[in-house]
Amino acid sequence: MIKLRIGIIGIGVIANTKHIPSLMKIAQVEIVALCDILPECCEKANASFGLNAKIYTDYRDLCSDPSVDVVHICTPNPFHCEMTLAAFEFGKHVHCEKPMACTYEDSLKMIAASKKAGKKLTVGLQWRYRDQCVYMRDLVKQGYFGDVYYMKSQQLRGRRLPAYGVYTSKEKNGGGVLMDGGPHSIDLPMWIADNYEPMSVRGVITDKMRYSTEGNALGPWDPQNFDVEDSAFALITMKNGLVIYMETAWTINMIQSAPGIVVSLAGTKAGADMVGPQMNTSIRLNQIINEKQSITVPTLGMPPMMNMNDYDITHWIDAILYDRDPAVLPEQAAAVTRVMEGIYKSAATGETIFFE
Ligand SMILES: NC(=O)c1ccc[n+]([C@@H]2O[C@H](COP(=O)([O-])OP(=O)(O)OC[C@H]3O[C@@H](n4cnc5c(N)ncnc54)[C@H](O)[C@@H]3O)[C@@H](O)[C@H]2O)c1
Repeated sequence: MIKLRIGIIGIGVIANTKHIPSLMKIAQVEIVALCDILPECCEKANASFGLNAKIYTDYRDLCSDPSVDVVHICTPNPFHCEMTLAAFEFGKHVHCEKPMACTYEDSLKMIAASKKAGKKLTVGLQWRYRDQCVYMRDLVKQGYFGDVYYMKSQQLRGRRLPAYGVYTSKEKNGGGVLMDGGPHSIDLPMWIADNYEPMSVRGVITDKMRYSTEGNALGPWDPQNFDVEDSAFALITMKNGLVIYMETAWTINMIQSAPGIVVSLAGTKAGADMVGPQMNTSIRLNQIINEKQSITVPTLGMPPMMNMNDYDITHWIDAILYDRDPAVLPEQAAAVTRVMEGIYKSAATGETIFFE
């Protein structure tokens, strides 16, 4: 059996909770190298997952290792572009965590490097692979909703600011919640509508909750060491006229209808929103039936999806093994980065940002 040999850079939370466990479920892969500036993180992962991976502290050494076929990048955001470029230089395939990069320009460089190397590139936008999102997207494609003209994407966490790692540092993380929950919250409506063509964006970011450290599920943070946004709100207009309202917050005094990222949509024939208590429970359809407004909660009519992390990683590995497109196309992730960058620009200038 052909085995793909994987090297992972950045052995923190996402490597330990998504990449390593999901990769280990696939017979055709072997994790052969780990890299972190803190070698003890690699030692710990080797021990807890029963791996025997080589340990590097410099990502260039992992990227140039001829025994590595695929590089997974799980480091803080400002490293994504340079590490991806290094991996392509040495002819590896790359799975990069979200956000793809801190700027649209860097995202385009990553796509160009992938094409030049003739190797595949994907980005960890796994939230779209939940039953409800897949079901909504299928209904959009069937024309069930008619002309979809308004969507809302909401990820409001009551008190769930990642106080660990570098999340509260603009220099080390590239930004705050917009770089964290933002990529998923922007990608979901665009993926459900199958529309990655933004025309303009008006965005606002705030750090109003910087000093409200009490009761955070992920521990307290130091407000003096905090120079990022804790909430971001944006109105995104797509070239075909579709309007998307996006709200994402790490910590906010507002109760959301269901946990996770919730998407609602309105079309000319019907609408839908996601209902809890579990995010994979169902969607609620709203339409006129026999001249009366009716709300139905359909059985999703599909077997429960595998866990979204496993889906992301399995499809990625299959894309390499069977020479297919990855489930998350880099061009889609680049469009998400473009909108994210536009929100920051709009928030800084107070103006609507138009894309060409
Ligand atoms: N797809 C998702 O849903 C999801 C969820 C969480 C995090 N992420 C992304 O994963 C990335 C990492 O997040 P995390 O929560 O695991 O952070 P983390 O702080 O837990 O882990 C990052 C690791 O990278 C290491 N590191 C830092 N600089 C390095 C360098 N130059 N070379 C090698 N290692 C280096 C750190 O020592 C740390 O162990 C971020 O880009 C984040 O946006 C994605």
